[in-house]
Amino acid sequence: MDTPNLNILLLENIHAVARQALENQGHRVATTGASLKEDELIARINAERIDILGIRSRTQVTARVFESCPSLVALGAFCIGTNQIDLEAAGTAGVAVFNAPFSNTRSVAELVIAEIVMLSRQLGDRTREMHQGQWRKVAAGSNEVRNKTLGIVGYGHIGRQVGVLAEMMGMRVVFHDIAQRLPMGNNRSADSLEELLDVSDFVTLHVPETPLTFRMIAEPQLAGMKKGARLINASRGTVVDIPALAAALASGHIGGAAVDVFPVEPEANSSDDFRSELMGLPNVVLTPHIGGSTSEAQENIGREVAGSLLRYLASGSTTGSVSFPDVDLPRMPNTHRLVHVHKNVPGVLGDVNRIIAARSANILAQVLGTNARIGYVIIDFDAPVAEDICTDLTGLTATIRARALA
Ligand code: NAI
Repeated sequence: MDTPNLNILLLENIHAVARQALENQGHRVATTGASLKEDELIARINAERIDILGIRSRTQVTARVFESCPSLVALGAFCIGTNQIDLEAAGTAGVAVFNAPFSNTRSVAELVIAEIVMLSRQLGDRTREMHQGQWRKVAAGSNEVRNKTLGIVGYGHIGRQVGVLAEMMGMRVVFHDIAQRLPMGNNRSADSLEELLDVSDFVTLHVPETPLTFRMIAEPQLAGMKKGARLINASRGTVVDIPALAAALASGHIGGAAVDVFPVEPEANSSDDFRSELMGLPNVVLTPHIGGSTSEAQENIGREVAGSLLRYLASGSTTGSVSFPDVDLPRMPNTHRLVHVHKNVPGVLGDVNRIIAARSANILAQVLGTNARIGYVIIDFDAPVAEDICTDLTGLTATIRARALA
């Protein structure tokens, strides 16, 4: 691992920017458009002695893959979710996994901004009518968004971006979050979800899927919204009670909705059996979970994950890893670094430090992070002892992996 030229295999048409970034650092990169089944994947990794694997959402990386492929040191998930990866097995095998959870933030925010205008002008209905040959030039029920109030539920990465962009269109922005959040621009924190629903002309949801957010917008919350207000959900399908929303739309209490995510979504793109109570209702824009699906987001994902992998190789930083504890230590000139992944059992650090003392090495800096299963430590020395100490560390039963950095 301390040699600069690693073998990297990128599956599933990962954006070319990733290959470029990895090759620029001297690594050998093979790419393919396919995803591989478990047996093929194991065979390929072992035949080509792959150090780093890159996947998107279709390749299942199971515990068996991690157990059968000792050459693997890191895995790039060039996507948002990591359900396809056995993260516990990755950690236990000493494989650092990185994904790109925030690369499509801007894409989602832009879709939401478009939908605010769409709902305000009933564009979904007008365009459908035109496609059916109907010319219906109406002003009733159409409004500018300027000076209207947008309520943002969940003021995280996406919510904040939406708030900034909405304000640029002259909207007033209020937000509600369970965590304390610094308001951007002139955005204002509402005292409660109820207050936000009460004052907003548009409500947009940007919360994660948790027990607290399960159907957090149901009949009472919809009833608490202004008459004619519009609802946008591009977060997770379970956040909204869909039958309750359909009823509120049908009664006219809610004036429109844009929904990108659903409690149950078809698995395959070719599926033509999508069904929802929202189908056919007036001023309802339905999209197939495309909030984050843009070329720019794919490129950002390629750049971000390749960057995390390269930082891990160069400095041992695990910032953003979903399988390792978060450990980072800026590199200082004239220092020699090793990183050590070990089982989180009592006494390991004592054993590590005894090995270091036996080499008469002087530690300049040491940072440890642990989770329930593993510990990860970065250690800097003032002399070139890292290689030798790594060799000694492999003798510890708790050692999963030890790596001296160039
Ligand atoms: P984030 O983690 O940056 O922000 C979420 C915010 O919601 C945090 O500030 C958190 O404190 C807040 N929150 C959590 N529980 C809450 C509650 N009960 N009430 C109020 N606030 C609460 O997440 P990010 O990146 O902004 O993503 C938001 C949502 O968007 C996620 O559900 C994500 O899955 C979804 N998403 C959808 C995409 C699409 O294609 N439609 C693409 C990307 C993300």
